[in-house]
Amino acid sequence: MKRLMIAANWKMNKTVAEAAAYIKDLGPRLAGWDRVEVVICPPFTCLAYLSDALKHTELQLGAQNLFWEPKGAFTGEISAEMLLDMGCRYVIIGHSERRQMMGESDQDINRKLGSAGGAGLIPIFCVGETLPEREDSQTRNVVQRQLEQGLAGLDLQELVIAYEPVWAIGTGLNASPADAQDTCKYIRDCLGRHRDESWAAAVPILYGGSVTALNIQSFVEQPDINGALVGGASLDPEHFARIVRLNMDA
Ligand code: PGA
Repeated sequence: MKRLMIAANWKMNKTVAEAAAYIKDLGPRLAGWDRVEVVICPPFTCLAYLSDALKHTELQLGAQNLFWEPKGAFTGEISAEMLLDMGCRYVIIGHSERRQMMGESDQDINRKLGSAGGAGLIPIFCVGETLPEREDSQTRNVVQRQLEQGLAGLDLQELVIAYEPVWAIGTGLNASPADAQDTCKYIRDCLGRHRDESWAAAVPILYGGSVTALNIQSFVEQPDINGALVGGASLDPEHFARIVRLNMDA
């Protein structure tokens, strides 16, 4: 059976008390459901609490960012080693909000991917085109550049890709499942060229951008889509549980 993964990107939301209430609510809703690997990516401030709270569950912990240096005078930054120390298994890298708002370049992302992989974290590497790029038929060129430059010189054993068209993030707009499949297939082909086909076939490729319980099925049905990276709809445990259950028994 195809490997499926749903990752929650809480972005800059939830205090520790709110995270505690969320996990208490979510746990029973997912009981007995093991078809999907679930990753919760809270803000840094909730990691310590969640690493403890998730210890005896199947839920995995991820961070939303890191800095590539292992330690030193980098005020405000967090290293891969620190995330491992918090019990993280995954880390989101190259999210479009960081590319756009924090000015992260493909080269920065390359350093971050290298440092995550070197420390044993699994990167959830985000790629995707903006609306002008899409309208200019540049989608493939953009994701190819992001993949080539992001992965340049790296030999990551474990990797997750999140294909997130920037215009679909937080807007209620989606790529059609067929368009998303087309780009995810292209991404898999690029990964095959980067390393080899059997490695590329095993890399989970998630779709992201306004995923909800109502559209999740149509994405995971696609042969090259292994799940979703979910922002807004992951904030409510009831709705998120329906996404994780692929809205099959909601
Ligand atoms: P969204 O965000 O589900 O709110 O569109 C997805 C993301 O930014 O990862």
